[in-house]
Parts: sequence; structure tokens; C-alpha cells
Amino acid sequence: MKLFAFSFVSAHLFVGLVSASSNHSSSNVPSLVDPRTRYQHRVILPDQGFPGLHQNWNPPIDSGEKSYVGTGRLKGRKALITGGDSGIGRAVAIAYAREGADVTINYLPEEQPDADEVKTLVEAEGVRYFAMPGDLRNETFCTSLVHQAREAMGGLDILVSNAGYFVQNLNISTITTEQILQTFEVNVFASFYLVRAAAPLLPPGSSIIFTSSGMARRPHGAAVDYAATKAALISMAQTLGLQLGPQGIRVNAIAPGLTATNFLTSHGLTTENADTIAAQLPLGRIAQPAELAPIYVMIAEGSSSQSIASAYGVNGGNLSF
Ligand SMILES: *[C@@H]1O[C@H](CO)[C@@H](O)[C@H](O)[C@H]1NC(C)=O
Ligand SMILES: *[C@@H]1O[C@H](CO)[C@@H](O)[C@H](O)[C@H]1NC(C)=O
Ligand SMILES: *[C@@H]1O[C@H](CO)[C@@H](O)[C@H](O)[C@H]1NC(C)=O
Repeated sequence: MKLFAFSFVSAHLFVGLVSASSNHSSSNVPSLVDPRTRYQHRVILPDQGFPGLHQNWNPPIDSGEKSYVGTGRLKGRKALITGGDSGIGRAVAIAYAREGADVTINYLPEEQPDADEVKTLVEAEGVRYFAMPGDLRNETFCTSLVHQAREAMGGLDILVSNAGYFVQNLNISTITTEQILQTFEVNVFASFYLVRAAAPLLPPGSSIIFTSSGMARRPHGAAVDYAATKAALISMAQTLGLQLGPQGIRVNAIAPGLTATNFLTSHGLTTENADTIAAQLPLGRIAQPAELAPIYVMIAEGSSSQSIASAYGVNGGNLSF
């Protein structure tokens, strides 16, 4: 808890300093962020099933609620984020709102309590929020999600296809067809349906971002189906980036390392599993979602105009990308 308290203090200091940014005297410069001490090392994974809730984590996950400071980099943008209720998607929703974008999030109906918190956080920034719960395995839903988000926001220029599904399976002989289908439906087919619907509607300057994974290149043997879907998303960022680049639409993928989210607990990962992985990383800890948000802002921003068909690793040193 001690280190969380510290990070809150530094976040408040930083907020106070933004208005004084024209004064470059050393006393007003925000202090360096030491990645070693930004968060406590150990994350305690709650024993919760699928899909899990943000509020069940103690110490809490940082999706940027108190730490992300925006500077208007996405002012006027209109973003649709799948899986925007919790984890990385929630961190992206908060960051985008603080950068000035209107935000529509998609999530599963069971995740409504998390979505309600995101609504409060987004609306506190004076931008518009729309909630569109539904199951991305449903092709018709994916298509209408894109159209309804665009209608609600009065436009659409950022699509973050982020929602994912993963169940560990140690033995290819026992993996069920249902699991293979569900993993591909949520992680890959939904991305096809969403981009197919969005591509004709997105104006030049728009951005599509897939949440891939370090597992696309450095997989675990218990993730045959999941790692394949995440590799597919890297490939889709490349092919769609080539196809839609001439239209002025930039498509990219971001490949996070292990990050403290409900996604971990929903496929049965334990605190001890997270400890084992954390011990192999330079900082001795896994990521917090707030540490992923900055790259989603950077890639969506128009000044990243050479970010096309590219894949970006944010993996804390797991050497995947
Ligand atoms: C900048 O800060 C220094 C130290 O606090 C102060 O002496 C100076 O007047 C400030 N300059 C401006 C332009 O605010
Ligand atoms: C799929 O989504 C559409 C549009 O939201 C909805 O009308 C339909 O009932 C859904 N189908 C299933 C099987 O849930
Ligand atoms: C995988 O499952 C099959 C079928 O149940 C079994 O015969 C095989 O020994 C298992 N392999 C391993 C490595 O556990």
C-alpha cells in the first residue's frame, strides 16, 4: 500500500505543475519517474472467475484513474474501444478522455459495474461517453456496434480492438472445439467484423489499433490457440495497414507483456504464477494497465503519421518485441 500512496502523491504534484509548464526553472520540473518504485512489486490476483471485476483487486489495479495526466492530444477525436470497462481498455478509455476524445466502450453485460466507473471517470473530463455492451462473437452485433458508436458520437476516427479471451490448455489432445472457436471469435473474427464495418466510414487520419500480445512472438506452451490469435492480429495490422494506408487510415498493433488485469484471473492465473513471471523481468514486476495507455495515445495521434502496419512492444523487458 505504501508505494501506491506514493504514486498518488506524485500524480497530484504533476497535475499541479502542468499549469506552470511555461516556467522551466528546475524547481518546477516534474521529478523523474523511477519505474522500479512507481508501483509495488507484488500484485495479488483475486480469486474470481470470468470475466471478473476491477473492484475485486486489492491493492487496486492502476488504470490511470488517479495517475494519468492528459494534455489535449486527442481533442475532438471519437474513439470506440472494445473491452473498455477494465484493464488495458479501461486505461485507454481514461487516457483518451483526458486527452479530449469522446469515448464509446464495449464490454460484456456482466461487466456493467466496471463500465459504470469508466462512465464517471470519462464524463468527469467533460467529454461524451457511450456504453454499448454486447458479445463480440456475434457478427451482427460487431457491425451494429461500429455504426451505433459512430452515430452516437457524431463520427468515428479511432477504433481500438482490444477485447480478448484466453483459457490455458496444456494438452492439444484435450482442447475443446468450443474453446478454439471462442478464442478465435473474440480475438480475431471480431476484429475482422469491426474493421470491415469501420473501414468505409473512417476518414483519412483515422487510426485502428489492435491489442496483440508479447505471446505473438514469445508464446507459452499452454497458449496454443491464444498465441495464434495474437500472432494473427500482428499480421492483420500489417496487411490491413498496407491495404488501408492509401486511404489515410493507419493500422497498427500493440503487444503488451503480462499486465495486471481481470484477463489474468479469468483464465485461472494465480498470484504465484504472476510472481514467477515478474521475477524474470528487469523491474521484478508485471505491468499496470496505466503503463500501457501512453502508447495507445501516441499511435492514435495524427503526428504518428509514419506509424502504419507496425507492431509495438510494451513488455517490461520480456524480449518479445
Ligand atoms: C519561474 O520560477 C522561478 C522560481 O520559482 C521564479 O523566480 C520566476 O519568476 C518564474 N518565472 C515565471 C516567468 O513565472
Ligand atoms: C446478435 O446481435 C444482434 C444485434 O445486436 C441481435 O439482434 C441478436 O439477437 C444477437 N444474436 C444473438 C444470438 O445473441
Ligand atoms: C494429452 O492428452 C492425451 C489424451 O488424454 C494423453 O494421452 C496424453 O498423455 C496427454 N499428454 C500429456 C503431455 O499430458
